[in-house]
Amino acid sequence: MHNLTITVIGCGNLGLSMIQGLIRNKQVNPKKITVTKRNITPILFLKEQGIKVTDDNIEAVKTSEVIVVAVKPYNLTHVFEEIKDVLDPKKHLVVSVATGITTDEIYEMIQKPLPIFRAMPNIATDINQSITCLYQRGSSVTDKEKVEWIFNNLGTTLQINEDLMEAATILGACGVAFVLRFKGAMIQGGIQIGFDADTAKTIVNQTVKGAAEMLIVKNDHPEREIDKVTTPKGCTIVGLNEMEHQGFSSSLIRGIVASFERIEK
Ligand SMILES: NC(=O)c1ccc[n+]([C@@H]2O[C@H](COP(=O)([O-])OP(=O)(O)OC[C@H]3O[C@@H](n4cnc5c(N)ncnc54)[C@H](OP(=O)(O)O)[C@@H]3O)[C@@H](O)[C@H]2O)c1
Repeated sequence: MHNLTITVIGCGNLGLSMIQGLIRNKQVNPKKITVTKRNITPILFLKEQGIKVTDDNIEAVKTSEVIVVAVKPYNLTHVFEEIKDVLDPKKHLVVSVATGITTDEIYEMIQKPLPIFRAMPNIATDINQSITCLYQRGSSVTDKEKVEWIFNNLGTTLQINEDLMEAATILGACGVAFVLRFKGAMIQGGIQIGFDADTAKTIVNQTVKGAAEMLIVKNDHPEREIDKVTTPKGCTIVGLNEMEHQGFSSSLIRGIVASFERIEK
C-alpha cells in the first residue's frame, strides 16, 4: 500500500468515482486521502472508510502532497484563488481534471512554479477501468511516477500532448456516454426480437465486453474481426449494411466531431 497523501477538491461525480476506485483496489491507505466539497452531506459515508471529509479546502491542501482539483471548469479560478497561498512548490503537485483549462491558464491562476498535471480520466475510474490521458509541466520524474501510479490504479494511462487534451476528453470521457447509448440501443433491439430487458442487457454487456477485450488482447483492428463474423450473404452483413445505409458510422463520427467543436468554443 502506497503512503501518498492525496486531496481531491470537488468530490462530485468524477472525484467520487476516483476515490471509490482508489479504495476498491486497496493500494491507497484511506487515512491518507482527504476529499472536499462545499456541501459534504452526500459524501459523509466516506468517513466510514477512514477518509477525511471536509469543506475546508485550505486545511485539506495543507495535509496532502498530491492535490487533485475535480471541480467544474468555471469553479477552478475560485478554488485556486482560495488555495494558492498554501500551495508549496517544495511539497505539492497539482492535478487538474477540468475540461478545457490549459496549464498556461492554471499557472496564471496559481502564480507559482508548481508541477502541474492535466489528467483526463473517465468515470470507469470507479471500477479501475478508466483510460486516463496525462500531460505534465514542471514535474520531476518522481512527480510523474506518483501521478501515473494513482491513475494506473484507476485503469491505464497514456501520455499525450496538451493540444490533444480536448480530443481526449471527447473520445475517452464523453466516449463512455457514446458507448452506453450504443448499448442502450442494442438492448432495445434485443427486446424487439424477443428478449426481456434483463436478459437482453446480460447478453449485450458480455458481447460488448468480449468485443472490446478481444481487440485489446489481440491488438487487432475492428474491421479484421468483423470480416470473420460476416458470412457472405449472411445475416450479419445484411444487418451491418442496413445500419450503414441508416448512417451508423457516419452518425458516430459526426457526433464525435460535434462534441469536439463544442468543447473547442
Ligand atoms: N464526469 C466526467 O465523466 C468527467 C470526466 C473527465 C473530466 N471531468 C471534469 O471533472 C470535473 C468535475 O466534473 P464532475 O462531472 O465530477 O462535476 P460535479 O459532479 O459537478 O463535481 C464537482 C464538485 O465540485 C464541488 N465544488 C464546487 N466548488 C467547490 C469548491 N469551491 N470547493 C470544493 N468543492 C467544490 C461541487 O460540490 P459542492 O457544490 O457541494 O461544493 C461538485 O460536487 C470537471 O471539470 C469536468 O470537466 C469530468
